Amino acid sequence: MEKIRVLYDEKTILKRIKEMAKELYKLYGDEEVTFVCTLKGAVFFACDLMKNYKGDARMEFLRVSSYEGESSTGKITLKLPIDAEKIYGKHVVIFEDIVDTGYTLEYIRDYINNMKPKTLIECTLLDKKARRVVDINPTYSGFVIDDLFVIGYGLDYDQKYRNLPYIGVVEKN
Ligand code: IMP
Ligand code: MG
Repeated sequence: MEKIRVLYDEKTILKRIKEMAKELYKLYGDEEVTFVCTLKGAVFFACDLMKNYKGDARMEFLRVSSYEGESSTGKITLKLPIDAEKIYGKHVVIFEDIVDTGYTLEYIRDYINNMKPKTLIECTLLDKKARRVVDINPTYSGFVIDDLFVIGYGLDYDQKYRNLPYIGVVEKN
């Protein structure tokens, strides 16, 4: 059995997400916002943030894939698209679980931008800044982390561990 070291527990994650929800509400006030959740990893983050968001919110989903095991292939494929009319002329916020090399977020940002939103920002729960290959900086980050492979709270290792209520690191022994 692998041992898992807790990096951020449930309480810490929720506290930070509540702060982010408040910051977003300050930004949009009573204007309608469309939150785009990137499946599957960002789903826990998106749900907790939206439950704490006081404004007028819509929710859309998209799915891309780029990952096998622990390494990004850099080749992104769109698995679940969004209807362009859901984005056109809207305030849009992209939710990501984690930004690593940046290839995925860049792909998603360009994809959404092509549908001409009124405004577009990116919001990631985790940011592995040191690993960045593409020049992209998410507008909001929950936590900036070191170069560690993390799991839980939606994040997987080969589809496993998404259901952990905390963010952790698998200790290899
Ligand atoms: P990027 O394209 O290299 O920035 O990778 C982004 C995607 O890779 C994220 O949306 C995650 O799904 C996945 N990913 C990157 N780092 C990790 C990690 O430490 N744990 C789990 N998934 C990760
Ligand atoms: Mg993933």
